[in-house]
Amino acid sequence: MHIDRCYCFQVRFEELRRVADDTGADSVSALQQHRAFGKKCALCHPYVRRMLRTGQTSFDRIITAEEEPADEAV
Ligand code: FES
Repeated sequence: MHIDRCYCFQVRFEELRRVADDTGADSVSALQQHRAFGKKCALCHPYVRRMLRTGQTSFDRIITAEEEPADEAV
């Protein structure tokens, strides 16, 4: 298993990290001001939160919302 993007919108986490670096966006909803992603199944949200926390953009296992809880209303 290799997870490196929001599959519903085909937006790579790497691109989202660049957007975060460029804009200072520090949450899923802040990133959504700049890119369309994460508005269907939302399974990518925990990965995006992990990416924002650690800089990691590619994942080899499932990350659940319990592991990376939202600190915001999404
Ligand atoms: S994978 Fe991102 S909304 Fe479905």
